[in-house]
Amino acid sequence: MKQETVISYRNFRWLWLTLVGLCACCVVYGLNDPPGGRNGGTVVGYTFGTIATLGIIWLMAYGARKRAYHSSLGTVEGWLAAHIWIGIGLLLLVPLHAGFSFGFNVHSAAYVFMVLTIVSGIWGIANYATLAGRISAHRGGMKDAALVEQVESFTTQIEALCAAKSEAFLHILNSFDFSFRPGLRSLLRMADIPVVDQARATQLIRHVPTAEHDDALALIGLLDQRSDLARRLIEQARVKALLKVWLYIHVPVSIALCVALAIHILSVFFLR
Ligand code: HEM
Ligand code: HEM
Repeated sequence: MKQETVISYRNFRWLWLTLVGLCACCVVYGLNDPPGGRNGGTVVGYTFGTIATLGIIWLMAYGARKRAYHSSLGTVEGWLAAHIWIGIGLLLLVPLHAGFSFGFNVHSAAYVFMVLTIVSGIWGIANYATLAGRISAHRGGMKDAALVEQVESFTTQIEALCAAKSEAFLHILNSFDFSFRPGLRSLLRMADIPVVDQARATQLIRHVPTAEHDDALALIGLLDQRSDLARRLIEQARVKALLKVWLYIHVPVSIALCVALAIHILSVFFLR
């Protein structure tokens, strides 16, 4: 059985409801033939504009619903499913409101901001769908803090192993060592984390005095595990950044939409 996602929530309930609503609007739009042509200023135009505005106000309320942990007003998942499909539905409802007429003006600016909000929302949902499973904490793996602690613990063990060792031994360390500070810079520096190449490691071990052989093998094991962990941490940080970055577009653009919409509505009532 296919797993339900926020997109397919309850057999695509919100997609169907949106489609039915849009079909009804298209029928009304087709049957309506006002003098002066279809536009935002007719009865049907005003009605569609009002519905679209109520829709946008409700979409903006999602942020509040998301944080109202004690609310019993539907589930957050249900709200998000409706948010997605009603949001996408506005792409058609607003042109029906405007009689498919756009110009270089504040009315169309509101539409452009709306499209940008919707496109960034689609990007966000696509990110959730493709990336969330890659966070190991979601799969029952270790959380970041535990991973960082483990990297530090490997560093301590490596330092202890390298005390009072030969040049050849330290050469192995220098070949695969790296400094690791979790943060924004390390996000971009995956290439700085060396891969412990086993062929090269075997070659380096040959130059180590026999008495240090066992420690050299242990050192290579530790260096390998530490590189691996550091790479995993960076990969996870990247995924988490991608899961968030789109919201820094979605939310500001949705606020710009509200401002442009307020100007649009005020201007049609007071400047006409
Ligand atoms: C209560 C809500 C709304 C009212 C009362 C309203 C009113 C109007 C009116 C009267 C017009 C015709 C303007 C003219 O021909 O000069 C119009 C056009 C338009 N409206 Fe709205 N509107 C509303 C909501 C919206 C929303 C939510 C959007 C988009 C996000 C929007 C975008 C547009 C666009 C793009 C036009 C066409 C502009 C053009 O022809 O260049 N409106 N609206
Ligand atoms: C005009 C249309 C839209 C408006 C005004 C709007 C507005 C918002 C707002 C205000 C938030 C809350 C952000 C927060 O406080 O964290 C939000 C979240 C979100 N929106 Fe939209 N949105 C719209 C359309 C869409 C569409 C079409 C999609 C997807 C196809 C979408 C996907 C999302 C997602 C995934 C979240 C975050 C979910 C979460 O973190 O729980 N939005 N949106």
